[in-house]
Amino acid sequence: MKTAVLLLLSLLGLVSATNPIPQYVIDLDVDPEHRYDTIFDVGPQFNDTVWSFYNQLAGDGPLLNVLYKISDKRGDYNEEQQGEINGLARLSKLPVEFVQSIQMLYELQTIMVPIVNFTGTAADHPAVSELLDLDQDYEHLLRIPWRGPGCTGIIALNSDDGSVSHARNLDFSPVDVMGNLVYEGIFTKGGQEVFRSQMIAGYTMVITAYKAGQDGYALERNTRYGDHTGSYKEMVQNLWAGRDLNGWSLRKILESTSTFDDALEQISTVPYTSTEYAILSGVKKGKILARNPDNVAHTQTLGENEDGDDYIIITNFDFFWKDVREWFDPTGGKGAFHPRRVYAQKVLDAADVLTTDVLWEAINNEGTFADTIFQAIINVEQGLWNISQPF
Ligand SMILES: *[C@@H]1O[C@H](CO)[C@@H](O)[C@H](O)[C@H]1NC(C)=O
Ligand SMILES: *[C@@H]1O[C@H](CO)[C@@H](O)[C@H](O)[C@H]1NC(C)=O
Ligand SMILES: *[C@@H]1O[C@H](CO)[C@@H](O)[C@H](O)[C@H]1NC(C)=O
Repeated sequence: MKTAVLLLLSLLGLVSATNPIPQYVIDLDVDPEHRYDTIFDVGPQFNDTVWSFYNQLAGDGPLLNVLYKISDKRGDYNEEQQGEINGLARLSKLPVEFVQSIQMLYELQTIMVPIVNFTGTAADHPAVSELLDLDQDYEHLLRIPWRGPGCTGIIALNSDDGSVSHARNLDFSPVDVMGNLVYEGIFTKGGQEVFRSQMIAGYTMVITAYKAGQDGYALERNTRYGDHTGSYKEMVQNLWAGRDLNGWSLRKILESTSTFDDALEQISTVPYTSTEYAILSGVKKGKILARNPDNVAHTQTLGENEDGDDYIIITNFDFFWKDVREWFDPTGGKGAFHPRRVYAQKVLDAADVLTTDVLWEAINNEGTFADTIFQAIINVEQGLWNISQPF
Protein backbone atom coordinates (compact mmCIF):
# COMPACT_ATOMS: atom_id res chain seq x y z
CA MET A 1 0.00 0.00 0.00
CA LYS A 2 2.72 2.39 1.04
CA THR A 3 4.70 1.55 -2.07
CA ALA A 4 1.66 2.21 -4.21
CA VAL A 5 1.22 5.62 -2.63
CA LEU A 6 4.88 6.44 -3.14
CA LEU A 7 4.65 5.28 -6.72
CA LEU A 8 1.67 7.53 -7.27
CA LEU A 9 3.42 10.47 -5.68
CA SER A 10 6.39 10.00 -7.95
CA LEU A 11 4.05 9.76 -10.92
CA LEU A 12 2.48 13.00 -9.81
CA GLY A 13 5.95 14.46 -9.49
CA LEU A 14 6.55 13.50 -13.09
CA VAL A 15 3.31 15.10 -14.11
CA SER A 16 4.10 18.34 -12.36
CA ALA A 17 7.54 18.32 -13.99
CA THR A 18 5.91 18.47 -17.40
CA ASN A 19 3.04 20.78 -16.42
CA PRO A 20 4.43 22.75 -13.53
CA ILE A 21 1.94 24.50 -11.31
CA PRO A 22 3.72 26.61 -8.69
CA GLN A 23 3.35 25.09 -5.26
CA TYR A 24 3.27 27.15 -2.09
CA VAL A 25 2.98 26.13 1.55
CA ILE A 26 0.41 28.10 3.52
CA ASP A 27 1.44 27.46 7.10
CA LEU A 28 -1.60 27.95 9.31
CA ASP A 29 0.66 28.23 12.37
CA VAL A 30 2.07 31.47 10.98
CA ASP A 31 0.42 34.80 11.76
CA PRO A 32 -2.11 35.44 8.93
CA GLU A 33 -0.36 38.69 7.91
CA HIS A 34 2.80 36.75 7.12
CA ARG A 35 1.46 33.58 5.51
CA TYR A 36 2.08 34.82 1.99
CA ASP A 37 5.42 36.50 2.62
CA THR A 38 7.28 34.38 0.05
CA ILE A 39 4.48 33.82 -2.47
CA PHE A 40 6.28 35.94 -5.09
CA ASP A 41 9.27 33.60 -4.84
CA VAL A 42 7.19 30.76 -6.32
CA GLY A 43 5.24 32.99 -8.71
CA PRO A 44 7.31 36.02 -9.66
CA GLN A 45 4.71 36.80 -12.33
CA PHE A 46 1.93 37.06 -9.73
CA ASN A 47 2.71 40.63 -8.73
CA ASP A 48 2.80 42.04 -12.25
CA THR A 49 -0.34 40.12 -13.12
CA VAL A 50 -2.38 41.42 -10.19
CA TRP A 51 -1.13 44.91 -10.92
CA SER A 52 -2.23 44.73 -14.52
CA PHE A 53 -5.61 43.49 -13.33
CA TYR A 54 -5.79 46.39 -10.89
CA ASN A 55 -4.86 48.89 -13.60
CA GLN A 56 -7.50 47.45 -15.88
CA LEU A 57 -10.15 47.87 -13.17
CA ALA A 58 -8.88 51.26 -12.09
CA GLY A 59 -9.33 52.35 -15.71
CA ASP A 60 -13.05 52.05 -15.06
CA GLY A 61 -13.54 54.44 -12.14
CA PRO A 62 -17.29 53.95 -11.72
CA LEU A 63 -16.92 50.16 -11.54
CA LEU A 64 -14.04 50.31 -9.07
CA ASN A 65 -16.05 52.75 -6.95
CA VAL A 66 -18.98 50.38 -6.79
CA LEU A 67 -16.72 47.52 -5.74
CA TYR A 68 -15.21 49.68 -3.01
CA LYS A 69 -18.65 50.85 -1.97
CA ILE A 70 -19.87 47.28 -1.45
CA SER A 71 -16.65 46.37 0.26
CA ASP A 72 -16.87 49.37 2.61
CA LYS A 73 -20.42 48.57 3.50
CA ARG A 74 -19.36 45.02 4.23
CA GLY A 75 -16.52 46.18 6.45
CA ASP A 76 -13.51 44.18 7.59
CA TYR A 77 -13.39 40.44 7.05
CA ASN A 78 -13.03 38.05 9.96
CA GLU A 79 -9.73 38.60 11.76
CA GLU A 80 -7.85 35.73 10.13
CA GLN A 81 -8.91 36.53 6.58
CA GLN A 82 -8.41 40.26 7.07
CA GLY A 83 -4.91 39.51 8.33
CA GLU A 84 -4.15 37.59 5.15
CA ILE A 85 -5.62 40.40 3.04
CA ASN A 86 -3.51 42.99 4.86
CA GLY A 87 -0.41 40.89 4.29
CA LEU A 88 -1.12 40.56 0.57
CA ALA A 89 -1.74 44.31 0.28
CA ARG A 90 1.52 45.08 2.09
CA LEU A 91 3.53 42.74 -0.17
CA SER A 92 2.05 43.85 -3.48
CA LYS A 93 1.58 47.48 -2.39
CA LEU A 94 -1.93 47.34 -3.81
CA PRO A 95 -4.64 49.25 -1.91
CA VAL A 96 -6.14 47.16 0.89
CA GLU A 97 -9.60 48.10 -0.41
CA PHE A 98 -8.74 46.52 -3.73
CA VAL A 99 -7.48 43.26 -2.25
CA GLN A 100 -10.56 43.25 -0.04
CA SER A 101 -12.88 43.82 -2.99
CA ILE A 102 -11.53 41.09 -5.22
CA GLN A 103 -12.23 38.49 -2.54
CA MET A 104 -15.90 38.86 -3.57
CA LEU A 105 -15.24 37.84 -7.14
CA TYR A 106 -16.96 34.47 -7.03
CA GLU A 107 -20.09 35.90 -5.45
CA LEU A 108 -20.24 38.95 -7.71
CA GLN A 109 -19.87 37.02 -10.93
CA THR A 110 -23.12 35.19 -10.24
CA ILE A 111 -24.63 38.44 -11.54
CA MET A 112 -23.23 37.87 -14.99
CA VAL A 113 -26.21 36.15 -16.52
CA PRO A 114 -24.72 34.91 -19.76
CA ILE A 115 -27.87 35.24 -21.79
CA VAL A 116 -26.73 37.20 -24.78
CA ASN A 117 -30.19 38.58 -25.17
CA PHE A 118 -29.34 41.85 -23.61
CA THR A 119 -30.78 44.39 -25.97
CA GLY A 120 -32.38 47.04 -23.79
CA THR A 121 -30.80 49.41 -21.29
CA ALA A 122 -29.05 48.21 -18.17
CA ALA A 123 -32.27 48.62 -16.26
CA ASP A 124 -33.90 45.94 -18.45
CA HIS A 125 -31.31 43.38 -17.51
CA PRO A 126 -33.04 40.95 -15.16
CA ALA A 127 -30.20 41.01 -12.64
CA VAL A 128 -29.50 44.68 -12.85
CA SER A 129 -33.06 45.81 -12.37
CA GLU A 130 -32.95 43.99 -9.04
CA LEU A 131 -29.65 45.56 -8.14
CA LEU A 132 -30.79 49.05 -9.11
CA ASP A 133 -33.48 48.70 -6.51
CA LEU A 134 -30.69 48.52 -3.97
CA ASP A 135 -28.41 51.21 -5.38
CA GLN A 136 -28.49 53.14 -8.67
CA ASP A 137 -24.72 52.82 -9.10
CA TYR A 138 -24.87 49.04 -9.21
CA GLU A 139 -25.51 48.97 -12.94
CA HIS A 140 -21.74 49.33 -13.33
CA LEU A 141 -21.41 45.80 -11.96
CA LEU A 142 -22.51 44.62 -15.39
CA ARG A 143 -19.03 45.48 -16.62
CA ILE A 144 -17.15 43.25 -14.21
CA PRO A 145 -14.35 41.94 -16.43
CA TRP A 146 -14.13 38.47 -14.93
CA ARG A 147 -16.47 35.65 -15.75
CA GLY A 148 -16.88 32.18 -14.37
CA PRO A 149 -19.11 30.11 -16.63
CA GLY A 150 -17.19 27.46 -18.47
CA CYS A 151 -16.54 25.11 -15.58
CA THR A 152 -17.32 21.41 -15.76
CA GLY A 153 -17.37 18.86 -12.95
CA ILE A 154 -17.88 15.11 -13.38
CA ILE A 155 -17.90 12.37 -10.74
CA ALA A 156 -17.91 8.85 -12.14
CA LEU A 157 -17.83 5.24 -11.01
CA ASN A 158 -15.33 2.94 -12.71
CA SER A 159 -17.28 -0.32 -13.04
CA ASP A 160 -14.05 -2.33 -13.38
CA ASP A 161 -12.33 -1.44 -10.13
CA GLY A 162 -15.30 0.11 -8.27
CA SER A 163 -13.46 3.34 -7.53
CA VAL A 164 -14.78 6.85 -8.06
CA SER A 165 -12.96 9.53 -10.00
CA HIS A 166 -13.55 13.22 -10.36
CA ALA A 167 -12.71 15.48 -13.30
CA ARG A 168 -12.74 19.25 -13.29
CA ASN A 169 -12.28 22.11 -15.72
CA LEU A 170 -11.93 25.53 -14.15
CA ASP A 171 -12.71 28.42 -16.40
CA PHE A 172 -12.05 31.94 -15.50
CA SER A 173 -11.51 34.86 -17.77
CA PRO A 174 -9.64 37.06 -18.46
CA VAL A 175 -7.43 34.03 -19.15
CA ASP A 176 -4.20 36.03 -19.37
CA VAL A 177 -4.81 37.26 -15.83
CA MET A 178 -6.39 34.29 -14.10
CA GLY A 179 -4.28 31.69 -15.92
CA ASN A 180 -1.10 33.38 -14.67
CA LEU A 181 -2.23 33.41 -11.06
CA VAL A 182 -2.92 29.70 -10.56
CA TYR A 183 -0.93 27.90 -7.90
CA GLU A 184 -1.31 24.94 -5.58
CA GLY A 185 -1.57 25.83 -1.91
CA ILE A 186 -0.49 23.20 0.61
CA PHE A 187 -2.18 24.13 3.87
CA THR A 188 -0.21 22.84 6.86
CA LYS A 189 -0.43 22.75 10.64
CA GLY A 190 2.33 21.42 12.87
CA GLY A 191 4.31 20.77 9.69
CA GLN A 192 1.64 18.31 8.45
CA GLU A 193 -0.55 18.80 5.44
CA VAL A 194 -4.14 19.53 6.43
CA PHE A 195 -5.44 19.79 2.86
CA ARG A 196 -4.34 21.19 -0.47
CA SER A 197 -6.11 23.41 -2.92
CA GLN A 198 -5.75 24.99 -6.28
CA MET A 199 -5.66 28.72 -5.62
CA ILE A 200 -5.58 32.06 -7.46
CA ALA A 201 -2.85 34.36 -6.14
CA GLY A 202 -4.32 37.29 -4.21
CA TYR A 203 -7.55 35.40 -3.53
CA THR A 204 -7.47 33.83 -0.08
CA MET A 205 -9.99 31.06 -0.63
CA VAL A 206 -10.07 27.52 -2.00
CA ILE A 207 -11.32 26.69 -5.51
CA THR A 208 -10.48 23.02 -6.12
CA ALA A 209 -9.40 21.21 -2.99
CA TYR A 210 -8.24 17.79 -1.87
CA LYS A 211 -8.33 16.27 1.57
CA ALA A 212 -6.33 13.05 1.58
CA GLY A 213 -7.39 10.12 3.72
CA GLN A 214 -9.13 6.75 3.79
CA ASP A 215 -12.45 8.57 3.86
CA GLY A 216 -11.12 11.83 2.45
CA TYR A 217 -12.74 13.96 -0.19
CA ALA A 218 -12.20 16.34 -3.07
CA LEU A 219 -14.18 19.53 -3.49
CA GLU A 220 -14.80 21.64 -6.56
CA ARG A 221 -16.66 24.95 -6.69
CA ASN A 222 -18.61 25.99 -9.78
CA THR A 223 -20.51 29.18 -10.45
CA ARG A 224 -24.27 28.84 -10.19
CA TYR A 225 -26.69 31.58 -11.14
CA GLY A 226 -29.68 32.65 -9.11
CA ASP A 227 -32.74 30.50 -9.66
CA HIS A 228 -35.47 32.98 -8.75
CA THR A 229 -36.29 36.67 -8.89
CA GLY A 230 -34.67 38.34 -5.95
CA SER A 231 -31.62 36.08 -5.75
CA TYR A 232 -29.21 38.80 -6.85
CA LYS A 233 -30.59 41.08 -4.18
CA GLU A 234 -30.13 38.34 -1.61
CA MET A 235 -26.52 37.91 -2.64
CA VAL A 236 -25.72 41.61 -2.31
CA GLN A 237 -27.52 41.83 1.02
CA ASN A 238 -25.45 38.88 2.27
CA LEU A 239 -22.30 40.68 1.16
CA TRP A 240 -23.43 43.81 2.97
CA ALA A 241 -24.19 41.81 6.09
CA GLY A 242 -20.59 40.57 6.16
CA ARG A 243 -21.39 36.87 5.85
CA ASP A 244 -18.29 34.76 5.37
CA LEU A 245 -17.70 34.29 1.66
CA ASN A 246 -18.45 30.86 0.18
CA GLY A 247 -14.80 29.99 -0.35
CA TRP A 248 -13.85 30.94 3.17
CA SER A 249 -16.52 28.73 4.71
CA LEU A 250 -15.32 25.87 2.52
CA ARG A 251 -11.71 26.47 3.49
CA LYS A 252 -12.71 26.22 7.16
CA ILE A 253 -14.61 22.99 6.51
CA LEU A 254 -11.52 21.53 4.82
CA GLU A 255 -9.50 22.54 7.85
CA SER A 256 -11.84 21.01 10.41
CA THR A 257 -13.34 17.87 8.85
CA SER A 258 -11.59 14.76 7.63
CA THR A 259 -14.40 12.61 6.28
CA PHE A 260 -16.66 12.88 3.27
CA ASP A 261 -19.85 12.65 5.36
CA ASP A 262 -18.81 15.35 7.81
CA ALA A 263 -17.83 17.62 4.96
CA LEU A 264 -21.09 16.91 3.15
CA GLU A 265 -23.12 17.70 6.26
CA GLN A 266 -21.35 21.00 6.76
CA ILE A 267 -21.30 22.04 3.12
CA SER A 268 -25.06 21.38 3.05
CA THR A 269 -25.80 23.59 6.02
CA VAL A 270 -23.17 26.33 6.26
CA PRO A 271 -24.55 29.73 5.20
CA TYR A 272 -23.36 30.74 1.74
CA THR A 273 -23.24 34.31 0.49
CA SER A 274 -24.34 33.48 -3.06
CA THR A 275 -25.60 30.57 -5.10
CA GLU A 276 -22.90 28.05 -6.04
CA TYR A 277 -22.38 24.34 -6.83
CA ALA A 278 -20.35 22.14 -4.54
CA ILE A 279 -19.04 19.03 -6.31
CA LEU A 280 -17.85 16.55 -3.73
CA SER A 281 -16.20 13.20 -4.44
CA GLY A 282 -14.91 10.61 -2.01
CA VAL A 283 -14.15 6.93 -1.69
CA LYS A 284 -16.94 5.27 -3.71
CA LYS A 285 -19.13 8.34 -3.17
CA GLY A 286 -20.13 11.49 -4.97
CA LYS A 287 -22.59 14.36 -4.55
CA ILE A 288 -23.29 17.58 -6.36
CA LEU A 289 -25.08 20.18 -4.29
CA ALA A 290 -26.76 23.18 -5.90
CA ARG A 291 -26.52 25.68 -3.07
CA ASN A 292 -28.65 28.71 -2.38
CA PRO A 293 -27.38 31.04 0.32
CA ASP A 294 -29.60 29.45 2.96
CA ASN A 295 -30.36 25.98 1.68
CA VAL A 296 -29.63 23.23 -0.79
CA ALA A 297 -31.78 23.70 -3.88
CA HIS A 298 -30.99 20.33 -5.44
CA THR A 299 -28.76 17.30 -4.87
CA GLN A 300 -27.33 14.83 -7.38
CA THR A 301 -26.06 11.60 -5.85
CA LEU A 302 -23.74 9.18 -7.62
CA GLY A 303 -25.53 5.86 -8.01
CA GLU A 304 -28.98 7.37 -7.84
CA ASN A 305 -29.07 8.85 -11.29
CA GLU A 306 -32.52 8.60 -12.84
CA ASP A 307 -31.03 7.58 -16.18
CA GLY A 308 -29.05 4.80 -14.54
CA ASP A 309 -25.77 6.45 -15.53
CA ASP A 310 -22.61 5.76 -13.60
CA TYR A 311 -21.79 9.43 -13.33
CA ILE A 312 -23.10 12.80 -12.21
CA ILE A 313 -22.20 16.03 -13.95
CA ILE A 314 -22.66 19.77 -13.64
CA THR A 315 -21.45 22.82 -15.51
CA ASN A 316 -22.98 26.15 -14.42
CA PHE A 317 -26.68 25.64 -14.95
CA ASP A 318 -29.56 23.78 -13.30
CA PHE A 319 -29.98 21.53 -16.34
CA PHE A 320 -32.01 19.10 -14.20
CA TRP A 321 -34.65 21.85 -14.14
CA LYS A 322 -34.07 22.63 -17.79
CA ASP A 323 -32.58 26.06 -17.07
CA VAL A 324 -32.80 27.64 -20.52
CA ARG A 325 -29.74 29.79 -19.84
CA GLU A 326 -27.56 26.75 -20.45
CA TRP A 327 -28.48 26.93 -24.14
CA PHE A 328 -27.42 30.56 -24.46
CA ASP A 329 -24.07 30.07 -22.79
CA PRO A 330 -21.49 30.74 -25.52
CA THR A 331 -18.41 29.52 -23.64
CA GLY A 332 -18.01 25.99 -25.06
CA GLY A 333 -15.96 25.29 -28.18
CA LYS A 334 -19.08 24.95 -30.29
CA GLY A 335 -20.63 28.20 -29.10
CA ALA A 336 -24.15 29.03 -27.98
CA PHE A 337 -26.95 26.45 -28.36
CA HIS A 338 -24.34 23.70 -27.81
CA PRO A 339 -24.15 23.17 -24.05
CA ARG A 340 -20.79 22.01 -22.75
CA ARG A 341 -22.52 19.40 -20.62
CA VAL A 342 -24.10 17.67 -23.62
CA TYR A 343 -20.71 17.18 -25.31
CA ALA A 344 -19.11 15.80 -22.16
CA GLN A 345 -22.03 13.39 -21.80
CA LYS A 346 -21.55 12.15 -25.37
CA VAL A 347 -18.04 11.03 -24.44
CA LEU A 348 -19.17 9.51 -21.14
CA ASP A 349 -22.17 7.72 -22.64
CA ALA A 350 -20.08 6.20 -25.42
CA ALA A 351 -17.60 4.61 -22.98
CA ASP A 352 -17.97 1.13 -21.51
CA VAL A 353 -15.93 1.85 -18.40
CA LEU A 354 -15.52 5.34 -16.96
CA THR A 355 -11.77 5.37 -16.47
CA THR A 356 -9.75 8.50 -15.71
CA ASP A 357 -8.73 8.51 -19.39
CA VAL A 358 -12.37 8.73 -20.42
CA LEU A 359 -12.96 11.56 -17.94
CA TRP A 360 -9.93 13.36 -19.29
CA GLU A 361 -11.30 13.01 -22.81
CA ALA A 362 -14.71 14.25 -21.63
CA ILE A 363 -13.39 17.50 -20.17
CA ASN A 364 -11.08 18.10 -23.12
CA ASN A 365 -13.46 17.51 -25.99
CA GLU A 366 -14.01 20.55 -28.18
CA GLY A 367 -17.60 21.16 -27.12
CA THR A 368 -16.79 21.11 -23.39
CA PHE A 369 -13.44 22.86 -23.17
CA ALA A 370 -13.88 26.63 -22.70
CA ASP A 371 -11.60 29.36 -21.30
CA THR A 372 -10.02 26.65 -19.21
CA ILE A 373 -7.18 27.72 -16.92
CA PHE A 374 -6.91 24.65 -14.73
CA GLN A 375 -7.80 20.94 -14.87
CA ALA A 376 -7.83 18.16 -12.34
CA ILE A 377 -8.30 14.40 -12.37
CA ILE A 378 -8.82 13.12 -8.85
CA ASN A 379 -9.41 9.74 -7.28
CA VAL A 380 -9.42 9.96 -3.49
CA GLU A 381 -9.35 6.19 -2.97
CA GLN A 382 -6.23 5.88 -5.11
CA GLY A 383 -4.58 9.02 -3.75
CA LEU A 384 -4.65 10.56 -7.21
CA TRP A 385 -4.57 14.36 -7.42
CA ASN A 386 -3.45 15.06 -10.94
CA ILE A 387 -3.54 18.77 -11.68
CA SER A 388 -2.42 20.69 -14.71
CA GLN A 389 -2.88 23.81 -16.76
CA PRO A 390 -3.59 23.61 -20.46
CA PHE A 391 -1.26 25.57 -22.68
C1 LIG B 1 4.86 44.52 -6.56
O1 LIG B 1 4.78 45.54 -7.51
C2 LIG B 1 4.67 46.83 -6.97
C3 LIG B 1 4.41 47.81 -8.10
O2 LIG B 1 5.35 47.64 -9.09
C4 LIG B 1 5.93 47.14 -6.16
O3 LIG B 1 5.82 48.41 -5.58
C5 LIG B 1 6.07 46.09 -5.08
O4 LIG B 1 7.27 46.30 -4.35
C6 LIG B 1 6.10 44.71 -5.70
N1 LIG B 1 6.16 43.73 -4.64
C7 LIG B 1 6.99 42.68 -4.67
C8 LIG B 1 6.97 41.77 -3.50
O5 LIG B 1 7.77 42.50 -5.57
C1 LIG C 1 -34.99 38.01 -25.94
O1 LIG C 1 -35.47 39.33 -25.80
C2 LIG C 1 -36.67 39.58 -26.50
C3 LIG C 1 -36.97 41.05 -26.37
O2 LIG C 1 -36.86 41.49 -25.03
C4 LIG C 1 -37.76 38.67 -25.95
O3 LIG C 1 -38.96 38.88 -26.66
C5 LIG C 1 -37.33 37.21 -26.10
O4 LIG C 1 -38.29 36.37 -25.50
C6 LIG C 1 -36.00 37.00 -25.43
N1 LIG C 1 -35.55 35.65 -25.67
C7 LIG C 1 -35.19 34.83 -24.68
C8 LIG C 1 -34.75 33.49 -25.11
O5 LIG C 1 -35.19 35.15 -23.52
C1 LIG D 1 -2.34 13.03 -15.29
O1 LIG D 1 -2.96 13.80 -16.25
C2 LIG D 1 -2.23 13.86 -17.48
C3 LIG D 1 -2.90 14.87 -18.31
O2 LIG D 1 -2.51 16.10 -17.84
C4 LIG D 1 -2.16 12.50 -18.09
O3 LIG D 1 -1.43 12.57 -19.28
C5 LIG D 1 -1.45 11.59 -17.11
O4 LIG D 1 -1.42 10.28 -17.62
C6 LIG D 1 -2.15 11.61 -15.78
N1 LIG D 1 -1.37 10.84 -14.80
C7 LIG D 1 -1.97 9.98 -13.98
C8 LIG D 1 -1.07 9.32 -12.99
O5 LIG D 1 -3.16 9.76 -14.01
